[in-house]
This record gives sequence, structure tokens and C-alpha cells, in this order.
Amino acid sequence: MSELYVVHEGFLFPKHVISEESLRYAWEEFQVRDEDVFIVTYPKSGTTWMQEIVPLIFSNGDLTPVLSIPNWQRVPWLEHNFCKGLLEDRPSPRLITTHFQRHMLPKTFDKSKAKVVYMARHPKDALVSSFHYHNIAAFLDNAGRFDEFLDKFLEGKVMYGSWFDHIKSWWPVRDQEYFLFLTYEEMLQDTRNTVTKLGEFLGKQLSSDTIDKIISQTKFNNMKQNSMSNYSFVPSDILNQENSNFLRKGIVGDWKNHFTQAQSEYFNSVFAERMKGLNFPYYKD
Ligand code: A3P
Repeated sequence: MSELYVVHEGFLFPKHVISEESLRYAWEEFQVRDEDVFIVTYPKSGTTWMQEIVPLIFSNGDLTPVLSIPNWQRVPWLEHNFCKGLLEDRPSPRLITTHFQRHMLPKTFDKSKAKVVYMARHPKDALVSSFHYHNIAAFLDNAGRFDEFLDKFLEGKVMYGSWFDHIKSWWPVRDQEYFLFLTYEEMLQDTRNTVTKLGEFLGKQLSSDTIDKIISQTKFNNMKQNSMSNYSFVPSDILNQENSNFLRKGIVGDWKNHFTQAQSEYFNSVFAERMKGLNFPYYKD
């Protein structure tokens, strides 16, 4: 397993896209600008979806960026090897993705007025999505049996560490001006309201027509057809989408098709223990 990951202070990062050098660059050298917008997620929480929505907010619903630029170039990952080349000369506002916890942002972040949009997802659904992803991605270790993966997830022995630690690092800043907390579930249930909220937070006035266009383009089935967002360009020996797609189901509650009653109760007990005292109102069952 370990040859697939860079292990840094106990965190696993996929070597396929991340190196000690790219981490050092992200933390020590990256120059955050006031106009930067960071999309922050724990893996498998709807990152790709946000990489579709936020550029469309900035383009006022013009589909060109999402139909012509692959998502990993459109909103590059701060921690990936190619970040430097893609972002240094890019005009503002730059849209940047990261799976980092709060303390892992670049040193220069705190002195800037950059914004963060955080999207959370029910950890049981993020786990299920990740389980399937591990089975199609050659650059991640094999998921193993579901019960084995469940244990690894709860112990945080998965890429980017524990879901609990991720939320715990970001939830305390929820009232800061630079920060917007969203959930995958609210986005799916009321996309219009969430896009409107995002537009206001990002200082973009969106007409009703523009919001309609954004909602339509970012529907799961439309994104699934968009080769700039569905990873269909990635060779199958790296990402094998023959039996399961990267854009797999796009629903809330698929965990119910995977967890036994006992696994769900065990998960809930770990959740209660790990989230104690955090005043976090979501995902208690
Ligand atoms: P599933 O595996 O449950 O289908 P990430 O982009 O962070 O890797 O997250 C991937 C998850 O987000 C996948 O979940 C994927 O299907 C879902 N997703 C991506 N685009 C979506 C959309 N437009 N609507 C709903 N879910 C979406």
C-alpha cells in the first residue's frame, strides 16, 4: 500500500498526483491572493460538482469553461504536482481546489482576503463513494472487503486522513466572513437556493436565467455526459470506468444499500464519540 502514497505526518496522499515537493510548494511557497477562491472538501464529497458550479458562477452561466477545460485544469488542486504551472500566472480570480484540513492551507492564506467554500457530505455516503472509487483507481490501494474499508475509514487510515478530523478542523471557522459551509445534501435538495447563496458569497449577482443555466448544466446526468468533468479521458489502466463510473450514482443515502444495521450502529457510536462537544448538527444517523 505505502508505495502508492506519500506519507506526511501520518497523512496519506496519493503519489500519482502529489509529492513531498508539491506539498512543500503548497504550504511554504504558494502565494495566496485576495481574490482567490478555494473549494474545500473531504474526498468524495462532491468536489467535481463544485468544480462545475463555481466556474459557471464566475462566467455568468457561459458554458465555455466547463465544456472546454478539464475540471482539474479549470479548478486545479493546490496540492497536486501541476498546481505551480497552472496557477502562478493565472489572472484573478483564481479558482483552486483542495482536500486539505484548515491548518494545512498555505502560510500566506491568513494574511489574505481569499474565500473558502466548504462542502460537506454525509460521511457514510462519502465512505461508500470512496469504497467504489478505490476499486476503479489504480493509484489507490484496493478497498478490500466493505467491513475492512469501514474500519480504515473510521480510523482515518485513508487518503487525506480522517473525515472527523477534516470537519473538526473547518467547523470552528464557520462564522468567519471568508468562509461558506455547504452540504452535498442541501445542494441536491435545493440547488437553486444553494447556487444563489454561493453567488451572494462570491459577490456575483446572478439573474434567474443564469441560475437556470447553472442548475441545468450541473445536473448529475449532464455532468456525466461532459467529457471535461467525467474523467473519461483518463486511460483505463489508471481509472477503470468499465464497471463503475467516477460519476457513479450522485444520490443521498446510498450507504443504506451498503451498511448492515450493526455497521451503521457502530458508525453512529464512533461518530458520537468523535464529534462530542463540537455542536455539529448534521449526519447523526
Ligand atoms: P457517488 O460515488 O456517491 O455517486 P468527488 O468529486 O469529491 O470525488 O465526489 C464524487 C461524488 O460526487 C460521487 O458520488 C459523484 O457521483 C458525486 N457527484 C458528482 N457530480 C454530481 C452532481 N452533479 N450531482 C450529484 N452528485 C454528484
